[in-house]
Amino acid sequence: MIKLNTNENPYPPSPHVLDAVALATNESVRLYPDPEAAALRRRAAEMYGVPADQIIVGNGSDELLALILRATIDPGDRVAYPVPTYSLYDTLVAVQGGEAVRLPFPPDFRLPPGLAATGARVTILCNPNSPSGTLVPVREVDALARSVAGLLVVDEAYVDFARESSLGLVGRRENVIVVRTLSKSFSLAGLRVGLAFGHPELIVGLRTVKDSYNVSRLAQAAAEAALGDPAWMQANVARIRATRAKLTADLTALGFQVLSSEANFVLARRLGHDLGPLARALAARDILVRHFAVPGLTDALRITVGTDAEVASLLAAIADAH
Ligand SMILES: Cc1ncc(COP(=O)(O)O)c(C=O)c1O
Repeated sequence: MIKLNTNENPYPPSPHVLDAVALATNESVRLYPDPEAAALRRRAAEMYGVPADQIIVGNGSDELLALILRATIDPGDRVAYPVPTYSLYDTLVAVQGGEAVRLPFPPDFRLPPGLAATGARVTILCNPNSPSGTLVPVREVDALARSVAGLLVVDEAYVDFARESSLGLVGRRENVIVVRTLSKSFSLAGLRVGLAFGHPELIVGLRTVKDSYNVSRLAQAAAEAALGDPAWMQANVARIRATRAKLTADLTALGFQVLSSEANFVLARRLGHDLGPLARALAARDILVRHFAVPGLTDALRITVGTDAEVASLLAAIADAH
């Protein structure tokens, strides 16, 4: 099976991660994990240059997104975001009884002009965005942070594959929370670790609504080791970027329109064609890609950047299937 549908990393994590997990397994699984993940937060503070009291660790960034809305949204409150984007936001807003204000991205995936003026309590920007792979420049994110009435959450799940990050806004703008994950660039999707960065008072608020032992001992140990070996992550990111460029060029040669991606996936379109049948034909050949059966996206496939060999198999299967 070639799995190119959920944007995992095709390469393994740093060998230090496996050593750290083995050590934690042998020495301490009978004990509860540190509810504050202090050692991991200290490591993240060093790596990202953000004080530890401005960092919270989650059971994946999905948990952090849920905690943010749990802490901020009462029934009827508005949460705004450009669409199409990460579909979990709809679910989390519905769980809180909030009102989702979904503003369509223009075709070039720049910020929708109305986003700054919705009056929403929380505005979410997935940057780079999924499924488009496009990036809003930091200066525009900064302008958005200054204009919105409430909190601005920047979901940077894919940012290590991009050219710039909004993390520097934390500390300069009190209403900005940046959410990161170790699932993508650090290859730790199976262990579930996310980080959120924001004003110390926001972080205190998130801590009050989280479960005590939300991140396991093994996950904390693994994440600490992964952050301690950034060169390993960067080498994998460089390989994925190189494969992304080749995948983009080859899909374009096969007749797809491919947006320039800043993530570890590409969105390939064939305007006016439903690509559901192509996704199913690929699945029949044991190659999984993501087709969204929703208005406006039926003519697109989101394809994770795998290894060069996986991508070569995918391209051969696409050429064969149509
Ligand atoms: C935009 C975005 N945010 C967050 C996540 C969740 O990541 P995690 O594995 O940290 O929960 C994903 C996962 O695909 C994602 O695409």
